[in-house]
Parts: sequence; structure tokens; C-alpha cells
Amino acid sequence: MGRACRKLNVIWCSGLLFLVLIVVKIKCHPQCLDSRPPFKGTGLTFCSQYQDYGCCTSQDDVQLKERYDRIQQLIPPENQQIWTDCSEYAKTFVCQECSPYAAHIFDAEQTTKDIVVKPRAFPGLCKNYCSTFYQKCKDFVKYYMDEAGSGYMEEALRLTEALSSQMEFCTNGTKLIDNDYCFPELLTNPILNGNITIEKVTQEGCLCLEPMSTVFYRNPIFLKHANDSSKRMFVGEQIGLVHIMYPDGRVLEEPFLDLTYDIKTTSSKGDERGMLGMAFHPNYINNGLFYIYYSTHISDYEQIQSGADHKIRIEEFKVRDDNPNSVNTSYSRVILEVYEPYWNHNGGEILFGDDGRTEYSIPPDNPFVNDIRALPEVYAYEFGKGRIVCGDVGQSAREEIDLIEKGANYGWKKMEGTAPYCSACKYASGGNVTAPIWDYPHSFGKSVTGGHFYRGCQSPNLQGYYIYGDFMSGRLFRLLHHANNDTWTNKELKMCASNVCVPPLVNDYATSIISFGEDEKASTAPPSLHPPVMTTPPPVPTTTQRQVSMSYETFLKLIRQWMARISPNFGNENTVFRIANVKP
Ligand SMILES: *[C@@H]1O[C@H](CO)[C@@H](O)[C@H](O)[C@H]1NC(C)=O
Ligand SMILES: *[C@@H]1O[C@H](CO)[C@@H](O)[C@H](O)[C@H]1NC(C)=O
Ligand SMILES: *[C@@H]1O[C@H](CO)[C@@H](O)[C@H](O)[C@H]1NC(C)=O
Ligand SMILES: *[C@@H]1O[C@H](CO)[C@@H](O)[C@H](O)[C@H]1NC(C)=O
Ligand SMILES: *[C@@H]1O[C@H](CO)[C@@H](O)[C@H](O)[C@H]1NC(C)=O
Ligand SMILES: *[C@@H]1O[C@H](CO)[C@@H](O)[C@H](O)[C@H]1NC(C)=O
Repeated sequence: MGRACRKLNVIWCSGLLFLVLIVVKIKCHPQCLDSRPPFKGTGLTFCSQYQDYGCCTSQDDVQLKERYDRIQQLIPPENQQIWTDCSEYAKTFVCQECSPYAAHIFDAEQTTKDIVVKPRAFPGLCKNYCSTFYQKCKDFVKYYMDEAGSGYMEEALRLTEALSSQMEFCTNGTKLIDNDYCFPELLTNPILNGNITIEKVTQEGCLCLEPMSTVFYRNPIFLKHANDSSKRMFVGEQIGLVHIMYPDGRVLEEPFLDLTYDIKTTSSKGDERGMLGMAFHPNYINNGLFYIYYSTHISDYEQIQSGADHKIRIEEFKVRDDNPNSVNTSYSRVILEVYEPYWNHNGGEILFGDDGRTEYSIPPDNPFVNDIRALPEVYAYEFGKGRIVCGDVGQSAREEIDLIEKGANYGWKKMEGTAPYCSACKYASGGNVTAPIWDYPHSFGKSVTGGHFYRGCQSPNLQGYYIYGDFMSGRLFRLLHHANNDTWTNKELKMCASNVCVPPLVNDYATSIISFGEDEKASTAPPSLHPPVMTTPPPVPTTTQRQVSMSYETFLKLIRQWMARISPNFGNENTVFRIANVKP
């Protein structure tokens, strides 16, 4: 990567996320043992239940059948009853390698090459299932582990010791770090299956949503505006297309930008590579420049040299002089490239700070410019003037929200959020650990999605809140800063009951919140200058809607139109919603 052309005053949460990737950071979602996303299988005859969606090729399937056969052969003839009783378990266990959650069932998440966390051989079992297994098949464990081989001696020893009692075996023996992924309950766990009922309430501060568009079916990953008074919103699909959408939901047929050729991604659910971020130059209105953060291909040679899976690139583009809705394809400039080791854990948000810097160099006052231990472009550990708040996905227990400060060290992996994670572990050197402004345990959600501060005036109840969500639980929250004592308070934002959200407003959405965005009204001068009037007429004003606005005087179309980009599982039913905060 070329040092001459790094653009560092583009403060990018994810740029610093490049460092997050070096440390082990987990997003709990479908993931195979090799950290790749699951895919559509073909020709699985043994583990056929994972044919449609899982981690196995037909070759893997053959190998798993061979494993199963070897286990059987290890059982001596006089103990054949064990095989009769337990062969179904044998098949179930070996086939878990094909489960779309294999990495979780075997505690195999590993995202650094220097710290190789070996997957377990024995899957994580849920308590009831484990008890039944134990009562019927505890003598089978030995053969299962014998087949696994000498690489799993430690685990075999631990399991053998735990076999002395059912409780011991089903806790210390087979329990996972994150027990929500235990087999077989993960198959029905509502959080993992996107079958969570969003709580509805009738109380002040509840939310309704207005569906804006469902045409972005290839994973709309961001929604940005150019701050050029055009009212246009730029919606990026992960596959590499940027589309222009107007406030009434209309989308121009021709994409603004097509980078599909340069993008490295697949249609696999859970592939986190692709076009991931966009930032307009603060002076876009005059220079037409904007930046895209995307995953791109590497040559075989680069692959061997770097050991990387792909690289991320930040590239500068320019709009055409003669058409504001189209990019100038003869202009582009690579700003930064960084090799990435994994398919997953790729963020991508890029932002300009409000320090007015727009030159492309490492700012001389960056905290680590003279520190040989750190790359000079690093602004803060794990991530990157203004107040920048970043959602930081946790490992296995806590999700955190950090205030990005110059030179700060967010403590991974000494700390996971506010909780100690590994006191003996080395963590990025120097300084004290900066605590998150907020963190929450996995009982609330398993993967934080960072949001935005609401500064509009049509939803006074949301004024000044940092609104964010959780990808896995689909819950929405708000954080409020108290300047008097510099503390933050958090509250869950709930959806309104259906008598409050009258069509076209809705009070429901699929979970899996991937990102938040805002339109250009968010950037206009201080809210106080704007009387809270309805400046954006509803797309199709209906009688019902008028009635709603009359009966709820604070029913508000947003001036600063918040966009929640919400998608259930990657790929389906991608909907962009506008959030409306109503006061019933
Ligand atoms: C599990 O292991 C811990 C320490 O290794 C031990 O104290 C405990 O008694 C074991 N059993 C259970 C059921 O937790
Ligand atoms: C979702 O959960 C509800 C209530 O628990 C249940 O009735 C329904 O069958 C579930 N749907 C799916 C697709 O699992
Ligand atoms: C495209 O960019 C090139 C190089 O900067 C410039 O010479 C050309 O005039 C631009 N064309 C349009 C249509 O904007
Ligand atoms: C770390 O914190 C301690 C105690 O608050 C303080 O004395 C020390 O100067 C800090 N170190 C750095 C490098 O900021
Ligand atoms: C900080 O101030 C807010 C009110 O502004 C108050 O609600 C909160 O309890 C205070 N927190 C602490 C820790 O004093
Ligand atoms: C958008 O433009 C306005 C007017 O030029 C400016 O005051 C504001 O700071 C800009 N907002 C952003 C986010 O750049």
C-alpha cells in the first residue's frame, strides 16, 4: 500500500476498524469453521439437511461420512450396543460442520492468524439434549474423541474428566462460550432465526416507520446525501451500485455509479465484503468529488505475499460535469489500500471530520506519526475533530459504543466493553484504556449497529439522541449525553402500537439492522432556525394520514429524515424505512 497517498483526514470509523480486524472481533451470525459465510450446497447425500444452506461441499460431505465410518470402526465388536444406541448422535455431531453456524457450535471464531483458536471437536450441546445424550451415550464420547485424533488431546482429557457426572459434562464439558448457539436449540432460537416479535407500546417516545423503498434488493448498505440541496439520497448496494433516490421514494433507473466489476463479494448470506461506504467531499458542490470504500480483488501473487483474502480500497471519484446523476468514468484516484485477512468483520463507514481538512496526507498532528510501533495514519486504536461515535461489535459478551478520541486505546483484548476479557493478553501498547460511553450485555443483542445523532426538529422527542440498534436482536436504542456531569444514559426505543402507526406508517420491521443514514436536511443550519413545519409532503397524502397528523399534534414527518436501513437476512426483503417519532 502506497504511503504517499493516504487520506487521513477522512476520519473513518472503519478505517480504524482496520485495526479492529487485527484483534479478534466477532459478529454473531452464520459462519463456517473457515470463517467464511455459508453457501448453497450441492449433492450432499450424508449431511443432506444442509444441502440448501450450509458450509459443506459434496467433497466435505464424503469426508464426513468417512469420519462417521471411522468412529464406527473404532468401537470394538463387544461394544456394538454403543453404536446401535449412538450412531444417530455420531451423524448429527459430525454433520454440524455443515451447519451455517458451525463456527459457533464449535467455538471456532478466529480472526487473527497469530492467535489460532483451535475449533473444538465436540459440538456445544444444549442442556436438555446433552442430558439425554449423556444418559444414553456417555461411553460413546471416548470413540468420538479417539477419531478426532491427537490434535484434540486436551479437549478429550477435559471431556473424559467431565464424564464423571452429567452436570459436569453438560456444563464444563460441552458448554459454549456463547450458549445461545448450542445444538439443537439454535435451530429454533428466535434471535438466530430472525423470528423476534418487536415489542409495541403506546407511550411517549415510541416510533413508527414509513417504508420508503424496497427496490434495493442487493443489500443496501448505506444511505448518504451530497449536501447540495438536490434532495437526492445515494443508496449503495453491497454488490457495487450506487442509486439515486428522491424523498418520495422514486429511484432513478440508471445507477449513479457502477463498481460491480471491481467489487469482491459473493451472494452468500453473510459475505461482508463488497461496497461498504461512501463519503462526499465537504466541497462536493464545487469539486464533485466523493469517496467509496470497497473490498476488491487481489492477484494470486499478492495473495501469496500478503496471506490476505482481499484488500479494501478507498477511491476518489468525480461526478460528470454535464450530468449530476452520473459519475465521470474517466476520473478516479486510489487513496488507500489495505490487505484484509477475512471475509467477515469488514466495516466500511467513512466520514469527513469537521476540522476542515481535505488534503490527502497524514495530518502531522496525528497521534502516532512519530511512533514506530504504529502506522502513522492511525488516529485512534481500533478505529479514527468533532464528536465521532462508533458502534463496536463485541466478542462474546458485550457490545460497545465508543467516543472516538485522538490517540485513544479502546482496550481490546484486555477489555471487552466495560468487562475484563483477558488480563494476561497483550493489547495494543501505550496509554490507558478509554472506556466505552455505553455497553450492553448479549441478553440485549449480539451485534451493535452504530447510528447517528438526531438533530432535526420534526421529532422533538428524539432531539440530541444518538440512535443506534442491534443487528441480531433488532432492538433500537438511544443514548443521551448529559453535559453537566459528562455521563450518558441509554434507553430502548420501542415501536408504537398499531392504533398509533396508521398507514402508510407501520410499526413493524424485520430485524437485522445493518445501518442508519440521513438525508440532506440533517445538514442544514441549526434546528432552531427551522420552525417545526411539515416541509416534506408525504408521497401520497391520504385522508387517513391527515387524520393522524390532526389527532396527534406531534405526529411528525421528519425534517431531518432518518433512514433506518433494515434487512431481515441478507438478501431478502430489503427495506429502507423513515423513522417517525410520534407522541400518542
Ligand atoms: C467446572 O470447572 C470449575 C473450574 O475448573 C469447577 O470449579 C467446577 O466445579 C466445575 N463444574 C461445574 C459444574 O461447573
Ligand atoms: C416464530 O415464532 C412464533 C411465536 O413464537 C411461532 O408461532 C412461529 O411459528 C415462528 N415462526 C417461525 C418461522 O419459526
Ligand atoms: C471527466 O474527467 C476528466 C478528467 O478529469 C475531464 O477531463 C473530463 O472533462 C470529465 N468529463 C466530464 C463529462 O465530466
Ligand atoms: C493513565 O492513568 C493514570 C491514572 O489516572 C495516570 O496517572 C497516567 O498518567 C495515565 N497514563 C497515560 C499514558 O495517559
Ligand atoms: C448526570 O446528570 C443527569 C441529569 O442531567 C442525571 O439524570 C444523572 O443521574 C447524572 N448522572 C450521574 C452519574 O450523576
Ligand atoms: C452542508 O452545507 C451547509 C451549507 O453549505 C453547511 O453549513 C453544512 O455544514 C454542511 N453539512 C455538512 C455535513 O457538511
